[in-house]
Amino acid sequence: MALPTINPTTTKAWEALQNHYEDIKHSHLKDLFAKSPDRSEKFSIEWKDFYVDYSKNRIDETTKKLLIDLAKEVQLDKAIQSYFEGEAINETENRAVLHTALRAPSSNTVNVDGKNVVPEVSDVKNKIKTFCDKVINGELKGYTNKPFTDIVNIGIGGSDLGPAMITESLEYYKNHLKVHFISNVDGDHVHQNLKDLDPETTLFVVVSKTFSTQETLSNATTARSWFIKQASQEAVSKHFVAVSSNIPNVTKFGIDSDNIFPLWDWVGGRFSLWSAVGLSISLSVGYKNFESLLVGAHEMDEHFKTADFEENLPVVLGLLSIWYNNFFGAESEAVIPYSQYLHRLPAYLQQGIMESNGKSVDRNGNPIDYQTGTIIWGEPGTNAQHAFFQLIHQGTKLIPAEFIGFKHSLFEDKDHQDKLMANFFAQTEALMNGKTEAEVLDELKSKNLPEDKLKQLVPFKIFTGNKPTTTVLINKLTPKSLGALVSMYEQRIFVQGVIWNIFSYDQWGVELGKQLATKILNEIDNSQISDHDSSTKTLLKKYLS
Ligand code: F6P
Repeated sequence: MALPTINPTTTKAWEALQNHYEDIKHSHLKDLFAKSPDRSEKFSIEWKDFYVDYSKNRIDETTKKLLIDLAKEVQLDKAIQSYFEGEAINETENRAVLHTALRAPSSNTVNVDGKNVVPEVSDVKNKIKTFCDKVINGELKGYTNKPFTDIVNIGIGGSDLGPAMITESLEYYKNHLKVHFISNVDGDHVHQNLKDLDPETTLFVVVSKTFSTQETLSNATTARSWFIKQASQEAVSKHFVAVSSNIPNVTKFGIDSDNIFPLWDWVGGRFSLWSAVGLSISLSVGYKNFESLLVGAHEMDEHFKTADFEENLPVVLGLLSIWYNNFFGAESEAVIPYSQYLHRLPAYLQQGIMESNGKSVDRNGNPIDYQTGTIIWGEPGTNAQHAFFQLIHQGTKLIPAEFIGFKHSLFEDKDHQDKLMANFFAQTEALMNGKTEAEVLDELKSKNLPEDKLKQLVPFKIFTGNKPTTTVLINKLTPKSLGALVSMYEQRIFVQGVIWNIFSYDQWGVELGKQLATKILNEIDNSQISDHDSSTKTLLKKYLS
């Protein structure tokens, strides 16, 4: 069953939301709270060790009802069914989208073209486990019989961001292996990393679903040459493994077939960390923790699949995003994790969200005349407060922000944790309430300022407030809670894609630049510039001169 192809703007709910927006657009969150004292109960979801408070959003009960109506009218329920049942919902590439099967228990059945894929997934998981155990406990050794000390993940996009983000987020759970990530085709990236490595104790993990990505192949070739120069061609088989669905290309590159960890075409690059692409994660924190990550993600999948829309985290969060994008005209959203460990989460979500939903043609092949694809950005709090929060508080743009925080820190330093979380709560309250003229005046009066100075200062110190935030409060950062958190965002991407009537799982937009770069590289290699616009031509001449 294909995904429904309903233009959301033609639904009754959309029209009702547009009218409702006119009624609510000037309401202040402070007044909404005053009117409804039980607002935080009404607009919050408790799920396992997650508490998600979305009451500080510019919504009321009618908004929620109409947004849920919209989800129903575009047949989100049917879409969820097709997705989990392995239908080829990535229609432009004729593929199923089944990263959910990677984290399903081995007893589950997930059919792709009539074949249960779960046993294959389990086989690869066993291979990952055996390999990682041996590397971690030193049983598997390098060409001079020394145990490995360093792992180098070579990949880009989903073959880098996923493993890198998770490895850094789970740094607390790490073992003795040092894990490095090389992604950029910028030679300084690879050489800077190789500089301090010892070939005798370094294991390279080349990750590329297609095994045709320029950046990854260039970096892997450079790393292999560096290695052979100091070791030998024969030693490559002990130091290079690959993760890919393109076995012929990997073999051609010179990696032993025993050293290949396969994945399948129904695993999208930006959703692949749950597959063998997560090998570096498993090497870094051990297979048991990798498995907990998968369990957490699976639990969120089950919640998404079974919970009523009203109580469904990805559905509610996805709908809120639609509300701001399509009715308030918000262009971007901020994600602010109050945990330094999660500092790569916004970058990871940028690929997930923007590569998936940055589309302007609908599922019928027609150009779209409504907003899609949220621009996502962020940095960890409290650092972000001292960087861009000024604009969120007093700038001209509406930026809905999501705050992610943990009740317990990992080193259990209560003093630091209390300070961190005091900021976490203070910011959402400040963004909501702002500061009125009367409050500013009171504050300034106590400072005994001259009357004219006081009057002059007042307008600059007023905060209008009414800035929407959603708070995700989780008990503790563990592999399991992290898995659930990432899955929550993945499923939200799906929800928004279904509502916007776009295909979320292809990424044709990345192709054009790649094609042109190949052409230009050829011209650079031959010092022969062909037909380009005058700007590109001059720039190329300057580069070559
Ligand atoms: O940027 C496009 C893209 O295809 C991503 O979706 C993917 O994660 C990345 O390139 C890397 O692709 P591969 O794993 O095939 O090298």
